[in-house]
Order: sequence, then C-alpha cells, then structure tokens
Amino acid sequence: MGLYSALLAITAVFPLTSAQNVVSLVGNDWTLSNDLLNVSVPAHLPSQAHLDLFANQVIGDPYYGLNDFNLRWVVWSNWTYTSAPISGLSSNGSSTWLLFNGLDTFASIEFCGLHVASTNNQFRQYWFDVSSILNSCDEADRQISINFGSAPLIANDIASQPGQETWPAGVQQVFEFTNRWFIRKEQSDFGWDWGPAFAPAGPWQPAWVVQLDNNEVYVRNSIVDIYREGQMPLVQPDQSKDWVVNASIDYFGELPAGATLSYTLTDLENTTISIGGLSNVNCTDSTVTGETMIPASMVDLWWPSQLGPQTLYYMSINLVSTSNKTLAAVTKRVGFRTIVLNEDPISDVQLAQGIAPGNNWHFEINGYEFYAKGSNFIPPDAFWARVTPERISQLFDSVIDGNQNMLRVWASGAYSPDFMYDLADEKGILLWSEFEFGDALYPVDEAFLDNVREEAEYNVRRVNHHPSLALWAGGNELENLELSLVNQSAPDQLAKYTAQYETLFLDTLLPAVFGSSHSISYAPSSTSNGWQSLDFRKAIPITERYNNLTAGYNYDPAVLYNDSALPIGRFSNEFGFHSMPSVQSWRQQISEADLSFNSTVVTLRDHHPPPGGLNASNFANASIGQAQMTEAVELWYPVPNKTDSVANFSAWCHATQIFQADLYTFEIEFYRRGSGLPERQLGSLYWQLEDIWVAPTWAGLEYDGRWKVLHYAAKDIYEHVIVAPYYNITTGNLSVWVTSDLWSPISGKATFAWYDWNGDKLDINMTASTNFKVGAINSTQVLQAFTTEALAGKDMTNAVLHMTVEAEGSLPNDNQTRTFKHENWLHPTALKNAQLVDPGLQLSYSNSTKNFTIEATSGVAAWVWLDYPAGAVVNFDSNAFWLLSNQTREVSYNVKSDTTNGGWIEGVTVQSLWNQTLST
Ligand SMILES: *[C@@H]1O[C@H](CO)[C@@H](O)[C@H](O)[C@H]1NC(C)=O
Ligand SMILES: *[C@@H]1O[C@H](CO)[C@@H](O)[C@H](O)[C@H]1NC(C)=O
Ligand SMILES: *[C@@H]1O[C@H](CO)[C@@H](O)[C@H](O)[C@H]1NC(C)=O
Ligand SMILES: *[C@@H]1O[C@H](CO)[C@@H](O)[C@H](O)[C@H]1NC(C)=O
Ligand SMILES: *[C@@H]1O[C@H](CO)[C@@H](O)[C@H](O)[C@H]1NC(C)=O
Ligand SMILES: *[C@@H]1O[C@H](CO)[C@@H](O)[C@H](O)[C@H]1NC(C)=O
Ligand SMILES: *[C@@H]1O[C@H](CO)[C@@H](O)[C@H](O)[C@H]1NC(C)=O
Repeated sequence: MGLYSALLAITAVFPLTSAQNVVSLVGNDWTLSNDLLNVSVPAHLPSQAHLDLFANQVIGDPYYGLNDFNLRWVVWSNWTYTSAPISGLSSNGSSTWLLFNGLDTFASIEFCGLHVASTNNQFRQYWFDVSSILNSCDEADRQISINFGSAPLIANDIASQPGQETWPAGVQQVFEFTNRWFIRKEQSDFGWDWGPAFAPAGPWQPAWVVQLDNNEVYVRNSIVDIYREGQMPLVQPDQSKDWVVNASIDYFGELPAGATLSYTLTDLENTTISIGGLSNVNCTDSTVTGETMIPASMVDLWWPSQLGPQTLYYMSINLVSTSNKTLAAVTKRVGFRTIVLNEDPISDVQLAQGIAPGNNWHFEINGYEFYAKGSNFIPPDAFWARVTPERISQLFDSVIDGNQNMLRVWASGAYSPDFMYDLADEKGILLWSEFEFGDALYPVDEAFLDNVREEAEYNVRRVNHHPSLALWAGGNELENLELSLVNQSAPDQLAKYTAQYETLFLDTLLPAVFGSSHSISYAPSSTSNGWQSLDFRKAIPITERYNNLTAGYNYDPAVLYNDSALPIGRFSNEFGFHSMPSVQSWRQQISEADLSFNSTVVTLRDHHPPPGGLNASNFANASIGQAQMTEAVELWYPVPNKTDSVANFSAWCHATQIFQADLYTFEIEFYRRGSGLPERQLGSLYWQLEDIWVAPTWAGLEYDGRWKVLHYAAKDIYEHVIVAPYYNITTGNLSVWVTSDLWSPISGKATFAWYDWNGDKLDINMTASTNFKVGAINSTQVLQAFTTEALAGKDMTNAVLHMTVEAEGSLPNDNQTRTFKHENWLHPTALKNAQLVDPGLQLSYSNSTKNFTIEATSGVAAWVWLDYPAGAVVNFDSNAFWLLSNQTREVSYNVKSDTTNGGWIEGVTVQSLWNQTLST
C-alpha cells in the first residue's frame, strides 16, 4: 500500500546482528474470515475489514449511496485476520516476540492456535513474548490469528457493567453509535457531524515477528527531544543557549550490562556535523536514555513555511555494548527549533503597547511571535489503512498553496502517522496535535487511566523529534463545552466532574508529555482559557482558569457582515459554517437520481446538527443543516433557479460555497485585524481543512482534493498583506484596514474607487488613496467613511467599492525587498439586491504559457469562478475573485491528479454571480 515506505526511509531501525531475526507481517499472506457469515477472503496487513471485503466484492463501495447505513452488519460482526504459516523463523533463538504497531481495537490474538493476549486500545503498540508457544509449534502451524470484536457492541457492554460511570443528561455527545467514551478507538468512527460511522476493525498498522538471541534487544520506539539548555515546556527559553539533545530508546529483549549510547548528527547530505557518546546514560529494563549538547552555532534553525527555511538533520543513536558491538541503531530526521505556546500574563511592556490586560495565548517560533494561519485537520478517510503518504502530500501541498502555516490535528481521530509529520517537517506546516478525546467526559477508573497512559506515552515518544510538532492538547471542546454542559444540566455535580476531568487531562496526560519532553507545550483542552498559574515546583504545574468563552460558532447566517457578532480573543481555533461539495464530487458517491439539494441521500449525509443521534429514521434532524445552508443563500445572494435539475443542484451547491467563503473571509479579516488591536489576536484556524467523504461539511477541500470556493478565498485572505473593509450594513459605517503578518514594518499606498455594476467609475466625494505604514504583525486603519454620506443621492444597489493595497516589505528571515499587493471589494447592500449585469466574461487558454486568461468585457464580475470537469484534481493559483470591467486576469494552475489526459483543459468554464440569476 506504499504506506510505510516514507517511514522506513526516515526512521530506520536496523537489525544489526546476525542472530536477530525480524520478519515483517506486512503483505498479502492473510485471510479475512467470519465463520458464522461463511466469509473467507484474501486479505492484507495493514488493513481494516471493510477494505478487504470491498476489495473482494463481498460488499460494495462503503462510501456509495446509503452504504454507511446498509453495511451496519459488518460493524456488528467479528472479523478474523489469519496469516499464512510464517516462514523464516528459527527454532533456536532465545526469545520470539510478536510486535503490533496498531490493532483496531478489540483483538484476541492467537499464535500456533494458542491464545497470546487480548487488546483494547487502537492507539497502543503491543508486544508479546511467544517463545514458549513457538517451542512446541510445528512449522505448518506457525500462524497468527487475530479475532476482532465489534467495537460498538463492546462499548455498550462496558457501559452496562454494574458501577460504571454515568454523566448528567446532555453532556455526552452522541452521533450514531453510543458509548464511544468507554473505549480507546477513534471517536469519530462512531459518527460525527461531518462524517459517517463505520467503526472499522482490523490490524491497521504494520506488525512483525522478532527473534532475539541472548544479550540482544529490539528497539520498538524511541524519542529524541531537542531543546535549549534550561528550557521548560510552556516557558520561553533563552534563545542564546546551546541545544540539549535528549535521546531515549524503548526496547524489549535482554540488555547486556554496561551498554552505552553514541550518536551521529549529519545534515541531509550525510555530512557529519557532530559525533560522540551520550552522557548520563540510564538503563532500565525497558529504556535507555542519554543526552548531549550541540552548540547553537553548529546547526541552522527550522522554520515553518513562509517564515524561513525548513532545515533538517539526521540524528542517529547507537546502543553500544562494552565490547563496542552495536546492539541497535535508530536514525531520526530532526530539526532545531523552539515552539512555545505563550500563555504568560500580559507584561508591562505589552500593556504600554496598548495590549489589553489578561494573559497571552499565541505561539512563538524560535522566540518570535507569528500569526498562525490555518485550519483544522480531521481524519482524511474513515479507513486510515488506505491513507497513503501521496494523499497526505497532496493535501499538504494545498495547505501550503493556501498560505497556511498551522493545522490543528483535531482530537477525536487517530494519532498522526510518522509520514504525516515527516511531510509537515519538509513543507513547514506546524501540527498542533491532540490526544484523542472530544465532546464527552471520560471514565477515570484505574484500568482506563492506565490504558490512556500507555497510549499517550507511546505516541508522545514516537513523534516528539518532528520539528513540525507544535503542541499537545488534551482534547476537543472539553472545558468550554463539556464542563459548561455539566453546569447547565447538573450544577451541583460540577465539582465532581471537574475533578474527574483534571484526573485525566491534568494528572494523567500532562505527565505523559512533560515526563518525556522539554520541548513541547501542553494544554488540557482546545478550546480553553489557558492556565491561571504555572509552577514547576508542583507535581502538576498547570492550574486551569476555567472562565467561559464567547461561542466561536453562530449558525445564524445573518452574522455575515456584522462584526459585533464575532468573539474577541487572542486566538481563534475553530469557526465556520458548512457548505455543499461540488456536483463533480457528489457524482463519485451518489446516483444521478439523487442529485438534488434535499434528496434523501444528500440530506442523510448532512449530519449537522445531530444531537440526539442520527439514523435513517431520524430524518428531521438531518434537514436542519440543509435548511441553514438554504437560508444563508436566500438571505444574501441571487437564488439559483435553473431549468435543468442537475444544473440547478450544481448552482445551489456552488451558492452555499460562496456563502461559506464569504463568511470565513469576513471572519479571518476580523481576526487578523485584531493583531493590531488590544486583543493582540495572533491566530485563526478555521473549521475544517478537508473532507472525510462527500457530504455537506465545513471543509474547504473536497474528498478527492478539489478546492471549494473557501480554500481559494482563504488563500487570498491569508496573504501576508491584506486590505479589508469593516462595514456595518445597517448604519453604513465603513472603515478599511491594512493588516500585515510580516515581521518588519511595511509602507505603501491604499486606493479606493467606487464603480457601478456596468463598470463605470462613480464620482464620489471620498478619499481616493492614502499612504500608510504598518508595524510588524499589525494592522492600521486606512479609511473611515459612511456609505450613507459618500453615496448620498446614489443608488446603493448599483455601487461597489474596489480597494487595493501595494506595499514594500520583506519576508521573515529574508532580506530581499518585495512588493506585496492585495485587492478587495465591498458591496454596500446584499448581493441579492445588487443590480448585477452580465459582465461578458471571456475565457482563453494559452498553450505556450499554460495560463488561462479571463476578461470581464461589459461590467463588474463578482465571484468569478473557473470550473473544471470531473476526472482531474487541479488547483488554480487564484479563483473566486472579482474583476473590474475590462480587467483581465491570468490564472496558472497545478495538476494534482488527472485521468483525462489533459482533456480537462477543454472542459474549463468560467462564470460569475451573474450566472446564478439565469435559468440556464
Ligand atoms: C467476538 O469478539 C469478542 C471480543 O473479542 C469475543 O468476546 C467474542 O467471543 C467473539 N465472538 C466470536 C464469535 O468470535
Ligand atoms: C544518507 O544516508 C542514508 C542512509 O545510509 C541513505 O539512504 C541516503 O541515500 C544518504 N543520502 C545522501 C544524500 O547520500
Ligand atoms: C533512570 O531512569 C529511571 C526511570 O526513568 C529513574 O527512575 C531513575 O531515577 C533514573 N536513574 C538515574 C541514575 O538517573
Ligand atoms: C571502544 O571504542 C572506543 C572509541 O572508538 C575506544 O576508545 C575503546 O577503546 C573501545 N573499547 C573496546 C573494548 O574495544
Ligand atoms: C460567563 O461568565 C460570566 C461571569 O463570569 C457570566 O456573566 C456570563 O453569563 C457567562 N457567559 C456564558 C456564555 O456562560
Ligand atoms: C431543503 O429542505 C429544507 C428543510 O425542509 C428547506 O428549509 C430548504 O428550503 C430546502 N432547500 C432547498 C434548496 O430546496
Ligand atoms: C424560477 O423560474 C420559473 C420559470 O422558469 C419561475 O416561474 C419562478 O418564478 C422562478 N422562481 C424564482 C424564485 O425566481
């Protein structure tokens, strides 16, 4: 499946001695069976049952039509993966082990027909000594068999045990299957408001048989922690200090006495930078730890995209015996950087700069504040076993092309594979990473906490060396949502559930991070109000603040263009509104007959808002989301009314995307302007980056990677320097601001010009241009006016304001002076009331420049949209823009995938909002 090639290239564990025998179980020598159902088909490892059943045509495409409901029988059944007899095992090794990097989730493992162990955590690594079983096992019987139980049935079983924890009404958010909080499995496998519920089962990660001799070890996991001397998590380090490299390997087997650690640091060309022994070596029966110093002058820093280069190194750690034999070696690709979540109290210096009192809440890279631009990553597929590095690479290219530098890897999917961090390291994407808990409270019995501790330590240690790792957070919407729900439902029990919350998210998870890492900050909940105090003399250094927050979501579409409806804060990590995917995407997963806005299939894929559970008989809930999107379009834009039903469906899908993009643009403009206001706002991560399937969701990228209107709009409004209007549609109060996220001041000129929709310039008594300066990561007002005065005597429905900005400046860590340009538009009334004209759009394509050229020949064109047919995934360098009359724009493109052999170019069309008013 190509899944592990990238991992092996970068994090290599070498079996170095002749006796050590490592047999990979990855491959096609597996059978998937269920005796009761009389199913037995060839299978793969890694995999999940749905995928092998689909590959063998026992079931149809799980993503097609209503198969998410129709295939429930797969979820209620047990599935057994059985290997062929394992060859290549020696009978005289001193120990034999089974090593599994991931079993999803309730597995009963047999070897040679004998029970080995049962597992109950998708996110843990498991290893078992099977030496005694092998000793009395014939070669032909050396089979591994893994029986997976039904996770939803087992979750219900656990819930019904006597004495089990319960929670006040309304606290636990149920989507499709119940009781997900009792089990350690991807929480969105039980359904979510953007995805289906398949609750897959299977060996979703690679596995091995490992044979060791006496005095041999196998490295199952390792950590490299790189930090500035004296650095503590959550605290700004002294950037003048040298680097500490703390390395630790987790092993099984027999460690010879007196073993030591050595290291080699090289650049990516394998030129040695530093070599030597690690000091303070500490051997226990499961880990060996040591450390060294790397002088700051020896290495270059790693930076996120657009802030500097992504410099990487290889760090090799060797475990060496007293006789200088290499017992094991691990190579990890690392970067030298500090990334801190600054929640310190606002300082006197900051107060003097006009920053409002309270605490900071922003990230600092290598000691520098920066503006975090990005979105929220959800599981890219309901079946992780088919997520390839190629797919994540394509997705991350869209992140970079979209001017984003940070993703919040949302808390109720799965811990990201190493290849995902590797790609983020290379491309410069910061990954705010979370433990897999969300929208529920969790049990705190000892067995559950022990299970979580193992899961957390394994994953913290596995990924800590990646410079793209930006933060560990405990879970999603816990403090702001879950504890508030307890307070609403059962205020007298708030203290009890808050204490339980702290048991898990402070007492258990915090030590799992801080016990292994000096380099990474921890926050118990996204979203939260941060810490009240931080004191490393205490066992648990964080004391939480627990104030409430203004809600980040508002499903009243009337909030568009109403600044006062938005929350003011230091950072916004989730906001949004859902929209429909394109008709090209719908056609990949539903039938032609279902292509209408409120068809049963389309409506049943709208899982917003679901509280109370969603199922095929609960249709009423499903249509609430469809109604919200309809209302949003009807409130602001011309309503599609095409004669052809599929064309009408497509136009409606597109219209919902325009509302979504319009709203997010407005929100991001507002948050970014806040970088220059007392809130000193330093981040906006919208909900959500991408889709898990084809459905109405908050995504900006559709399931196959196609960009919605949103991703283009976000790319534009995440440019370094933007000009944006802040307008009260009721009072006519208009201000225009320029915002810059560059690290040095810029100066330039902003212009303002009014036109009618025919494209003729209006003679308006208003400032036409102004020179300005903007400080580092700051904003400044460049215009203040009232449209009621400026347009007095004019028809507001026939006026649009065109704003431009042009400024000189330079990128962070780059001395070159560059010109930054941006333009924006304001329509003083809703576009549905505007006197739109046919802008006479002309489209041409040049075979020599490989560019499309679009020209508006007879009026102002709003929301110009280049569309392309199914069969390819392409992104244009700009789209969803506006054009003045007689303005042209050249648009280049990137092809992400193409099954049309370039034929998609012929199928490109252009339209604008004007087309929405037409019947064809
Ligand atoms: C199904 O799996 C569960 C959980 O591992 C187990 O208790 C049960 O015996 C299994 N049933 C069958 C028929 O294999
Ligand atoms: C560096 O060494 C690794 C491991 O030996 C090898 O795979 C890689 O090709 C080398 N890179 C260069 C640039 O020589
Ligand atoms: C070695 O590591 C173990 C486990 O982390 C710890 O308990 C012990 O104190 C350490 N020993 C030394 C000498 O640092
Ligand atoms: C092991 O290697 C080190 C460094 O190469 C050397 O100084 C030492 O003498 C060696 N020890 C043995 C026992 O060979
Ligand atoms: C937030 O807390 C304040 C007082 O601490 C209270 O007045 C306000 O109603 C609360 N807001 C919400 C949304 O709970
Ligand atoms: C879809 O259905 C909802 C709920 O019944 C309704 O409010 C909305 O107007 C419909 N939308 C369209 C485009 O027909
Ligand atoms: C849609 O178009 C039809 C004719 O094609 C017309 O009768 C109807 O009034 C239109 N509806 C709207 C809301 O414009």
